[in-house]
Amino acid sequence: MSHTAAVPRHIAIVMDGNGRWATRRFLPRVAGHRQGVESLRRCVKACVDRGVQVLTVFAFSSENWNRPAEEISGLMELLGMALAREVPQLSRDGVRICVIGERQGLSDKLSAGLAQAEHDTAQNPRLILNVCFNYGGRWDIAQAAARLAARGEPITELSLDRAMALSHVPDPDLLIRTGGEMRISNFLLWQAAYTELYFSDLLWPDFDEAALDAAIADFQRRERRFGRTSEQLNASAEGRRVA
Ligand code: IPE
Ligand code: IPE
Ligand code: MG
Repeated sequence: MSHTAAVPRHIAIVMDGNGRWATRRFLPRVAGHRQGVESLRRCVKACVDRGVQVLTVFAFSSENWNRPAEEISGLMELLGMALAREVPQLSRDGVRICVIGERQGLSDKLSAGLAQAEHDTAQNPRLILNVCFNYGGRWDIAQAAARLAARGEPITELSLDRAMALSHVPDPDLLIRTGGEMRISNFLLWQAAYTELYFSDLLWPDFDEAALDAAIADFQRRERRFGRTSEQLNASAEGRRVA
């Protein structure tokens, strides 16, 4: 068997379970989201330390507008505050922030804050942190197609790929979803075509370094065939060893 012994270059995470984490403690849901930010900070640092190059996290989906107004405004506020507060440390760690998603519908103040965080970290070389906020996989495919159509360009797999919101990074190698649910929830529909999926029952605030390492170790045991047969992969691995 040929294994992917390397650390995944790009990890994507559906950070789910904040609400349940809070409810179990008789706290308001937004307290769970606050704890979720702490968990994300720990995860970013762990990814930097392990040599992961890209981390893409789902922070607010196109469908999360269906939540109670109070929770929505709490999440908006939290994003703005967390980014502003974390930028200095993220910069020290070499993390570049990219906010991915539809900016329309966000307040001017929040949009300005997101642009500032992107600008202030643009030169950081170690890890790209894509924060998907007001993002949906269907939105991304549709906006990419609309842009190509407006420019009168042909729609091909390559042109679509380049017009999409994550065109600055390779496709994710590993997609982790916490919180026990086994669904994609409109996350990276296009980019996850060949991503290895990993589901954890831990709630996002409880997802720590050990849990990340377990996910990476599981990934390293997978055989990524990309349509080929196991025999083909072993033959080419053998060829590389001989060469
Ligand atoms: C995920 O946690 C974070 C967001 C969707 C913003 P949830 O808030 O969905 O937590 P659960 O699934 O209700 O526990
Ligand atoms: C997915 O979680 C979105 C984020 C983590 C931001 P949800 O909790 O919104 O997903 P569903 O609605 O249960 O599928
Ligand atoms: Mg949820």
